[in-house]
Amino acid sequence: MKRIAVFASGNGSNYEAIEKAFENHRYCRVELLVCDNPKAYVLERAKKYGRQVFVFNPKDYESKEHYEREILQQLQLHQIDLVCLAGYMRIVGSTLLDAYAKRIINIHPSLLPAFKGKNGIKDAFEYGVKVFGVTVHYVSPEVDGGKIIAQRAIEYHGESLEELEGLIHQIEHQLYPETIEKLVKEWENEGLNQC
Ligand code: GRF
Repeated sequence: MKRIAVFASGNGSNYEAIEKAFENHRYCRVELLVCDNPKAYVLERAKKYGRQVFVFNPKDYESKEHYEREILQQLQLHQIDLVCLAGYMRIVGSTLLDAYAKRIINIHPSLLPAFKGKNGIKDAFEYGVKVFGVTVHYVSPEVDGGKIIAQRAIEYHGESLEELEGLIHQIEHQLYPETIEKLVKEWENEGLNQC
């Protein structure tokens, strides 16, 4: 059984999609939610699932290294195999990247490498793009820059950013759990004990 930690900072719709997908799953389960915002709605969602949560406020720490060391302790305590960032609004530092090399993934609402950054959907929409999409990728020191694992595209010719956002989020909620499942199955089949 592989154990997943989800990192989120805000709404948490992707977190919830992952919870739903891995309820009673054969190979993996969500074990921990890590959240850097004590007011985030994702914490309400986590209550519904009785999920263990590690909440921290970065302002309470001297540096990224200090809070990441605490996160790492939590990950080790819960024997986490895979970290899934889902709207986690912080750059992951070397403390976590070194300890979890190739085992931290992220979802981004654009077809990377286009439209990196916080406002991927809006930026693409304002640019006049007609083919949008979602990317799941490994996390590297470069923001939204790690190797791509999966992508799904959608054409949109409408005029409503809200409608487009809704469509893209629907794709995210399918693609992220599907990709996690695929990764975990690959690991199982390879018989690797790393995750
Ligand atoms: C998603 O669009 C995700 O791709 C991006 O942040 C957003 C998080 O949404 N990284 P939610 O908090 O999962 O609803």
